Amino acid sequence: MERIIMDVDPGIDDSLAILFALQSPELQIEGITVVSGNVEVEQATRNALKAVEMSGKKVRVYKGMPLPLVRPYQDATDTHGVDGIGENFYPPPKTEPEKVHAVDFIIEQVKENPDELTILALGPLTNLAKAIEEDSETMRKVKRIVLMGGSATYHGNCSPVAEYNFWVDPHAAKVVFASGIEVTMVGLDVTHRIVFTPHLREIVHQLRTPLSQYVYEITRFYVDFHWKQEKTIGCVINDPLAVATLIQPELVKTRTAFVDIETEGVAMGQSVVDFEGRRNQGKWNTHVCVDVDPKAFFQLFLHRLFPEHQEQIQIGIDKHHW
Ligand code: BDR
Ligand code: CA
Repeated sequence: MERIIMDVDPGIDDSLAILFALQSPELQIEGITVVSGNVEVEQATRNALKAVEMSGKKVRVYKGMPLPLVRPYQDATDTHGVDGIGENFYPPPKTEPEKVHAVDFIIEQVKENPDELTILALGPLTNLAKAIEEDSETMRKVKRIVLMGGSATYHGNCSPVAEYNFWVDPHAAKVVFASGIEVTMVGLDVTHRIVFTPHLREIVHQLRTPLSQYVYEITRFYVDFHWKQEKTIGCVINDPLAVATLIQPELVKTRTAFVDIETEGVAMGQSVVDFEGRRNQGKWNTHVCVDVDPKAFFQLFLHRLFPEHQEQIQIGIDKHHW
């Protein structure tokens, strides 16, 4: 059982990742911390609470940093909708976030559980960077960080070279990679292949449960965005792949590299990934995901979300053109 703090900015794919993680018995979610990213932190916190409610589980949610460390904040409401979950404008969640600040929660948990906790970071890295800046000695006792962000050999999604989570708060990303904590980077290199196609989305639709309805509804806007933006049919669900790597590491291939982040200029937010040991005397700080098995991912993901419909899902997945 892996003990995890999830740091998120829901976000359509973050919401799916929360459901996936909470419904996976291999993971024990100690708390969910929220950061401004796809939408500002107040709305992102409501969306995190909504996803927790939809899962039927009980996990505490902690509100974190409202703004990036240095740069002005840029949301992604063009991608996720003004409410961050596809403009469905659901009624507010029944539950409330905790009073403790996300950064304090992270530091406190790591202090109490040295070398035990994995941080699964699916948004801009502001909360983590802040925790590292406030108490680097404690934060060195994080077991490891698995994050969705960056792009090693693929292009960016906010600039030719920058992925959104690093582009929003490049200074925070730089702090995290320089922290000495071991990182696994699940970047666009692999997540761009995780396309929730109309075929897969329709399998979910046909299950006709409240959860399948929610997944179907929140991904509609995301599908429209992908068509407008890049003529992809379906939507790329980045964040759940990072969850999957914790449950079934063999779904991805990784290579070690030294990763640093550009914070200025035309390449702002770029993850500079050195596989060849040219910088930093051949030392590495990151396991970079370089290949993925999308079919195996969707099997795991959909089976975990809808365990009572495994047989139908499998038939539907086998009929997909992979
Ligand atoms: C990342 O940016 C966000 O829009 C998604 O939630 C994901 O974490 C992809 O670049
Ligand atoms: Ca995210």
